[in-house]
Amino acid sequence: MKLWAGRFKKEVDSRVNDFNSSISFDSRMYKEDIEGSIAHATMLADCGIISVEDRDLITAGLERIGEEISAGELELDPEAEDIHMFIEAELTKRIGDAGKRLHTARSRNDQVAVDIHLYLKKELANIPPMIKKLIHVLLVKAEQGADMVMPGYTHLQRAQPITFGHHLMAYVQMFLRDIDRFKDALKRIDEMPLGSGALAGTTYPINREMTRKLLNFKRVSANSLDGVSDRDFCLDAAYAMSVLMMHLSRFSEEIILWCSWEFKFIELDDAFSTGSSIMPQKKNPDIAELVRGKTGRVYGDLTTLLTMMKGLPLAYNKDMQEDKEAVFDALDTAKMCLEVFTPMIETMRPLPENMRAAAAKGFINATDCADYLVKKGMAFRDAYKITGELVAECIDLSLTLETLPLENYKRKTEIFDDGIYQAISLEKCVKDRGCIGGPATVMNQIKQAKMLLEEI
Ligand code: ARG
Repeated sequence: MKLWAGRFKKEVDSRVNDFNSSISFDSRMYKEDIEGSIAHATMLADCGIISVEDRDLITAGLERIGEEISAGELELDPEAEDIHMFIEAELTKRIGDAGKRLHTARSRNDQVAVDIHLYLKKELANIPPMIKKLIHVLLVKAEQGADMVMPGYTHLQRAQPITFGHHLMAYVQMFLRDIDRFKDALKRIDEMPLGSGALAGTTYPINREMTRKLLNFKRVSANSLDGVSDRDFCLDAAYAMSVLMMHLSRFSEEIILWCSWEFKFIELDDAFSTGSSIMPQKKNPDIAELVRGKTGRVYGDLTTLLTMMKGLPLAYNKDMQEDKEAVFDALDTAKMCLEVFTPMIETMRPLPENMRAAAAKGFINATDCADYLVKKGMAFRDAYKITGELVAECIDLSLTLETLPLENYKRKTEIFDDGIYQAISLEKCVKDRGCIGGPATVMNQIKQAKMLLEEI
């Protein structure tokens, strides 16, 4: 019999019961549900709405239920409508009338809202430390790679010389922003909707400030309709996870390319790669591919939430029960990905000779050749044109700018002298890019990132 059965003459159809039930996925909030209920009962007793004896029975009963669920001693009833109904029914079974008083001045609408706030506040806080760990790993790798010259790309075409360390530090910036995004999401999660009732608050003289303090929330929600129907905080969380996944996915894409024989800039550790069932020579970057693949699923979760919310009139609608699977999945996926991604990066081995060899091809010092002429007084557009012609000549002669004889240079303009070879040496091209954020500033970037990491 449902707790709300009074108005009904028939039992609910079993298919409806299954369709309606959320206990299979909201049971993971049982601790938060109990925590919220204990705070609620404590406040009710303090305000004289229930007796102190009832409060004590409720508190002890809920604590016991929590312990039993944790220990696997109390089996969840899969027929129950949701975790909230299950716990309340179980409590009432154990302590009788006092259990029936717990739901005074409360609705499942503000109850579920506070549960998700509590759950996400706890769970989301675990992510920034995981990202920090990844950043620490990247900082070590970036320091090792600070002088490893490699080609930088645009359009996946070799463009200008950078270093491996510089490339990795770009990801450090992305992950630093991710931490910021999670902290920002956490700010909005830190609000307590309990006390909003079903939608219109309550006529009981409740003390929301007290519940807020007991549950350790920063603020109390300011409007009861919004309190029960706001899921922006779930969206914020899903968005932060989506952007994090997008970064992990871009990185994964590069790992996959770098592992290929065509690039061979890195070698993944055997423990973080997989083989093929038919091709004995294969060593596949499955982890990176899965991270890239799972990114789509997290975007799907974000889209689920956005679409689920877009047509909902105020206040609570059952559609909102769909919030949990989406946000939980995004959370689980992001965490799972970080857990394997970090050690994969930690154990990967850079192959600087291959990076250097790739950098020597593709005329990535052409801009530096043009800049050499500009520094000797030529206008950039003229210098650009001459360099383009020199590159075309090199291609015809199967040479590089480094191996093209000085006479060929001089034929274009007398401005060239043998200083050109020094000006286009890749190491110098990197070393000269010392403006803030440039590839020559990797060590400085690392220092600043370390400082930032200590602050956040
Ligand atoms: N299981 C529901 C959910 O997750 C709890 C709230 C139910 N409220 C209601 N008025 N039916 O959203």
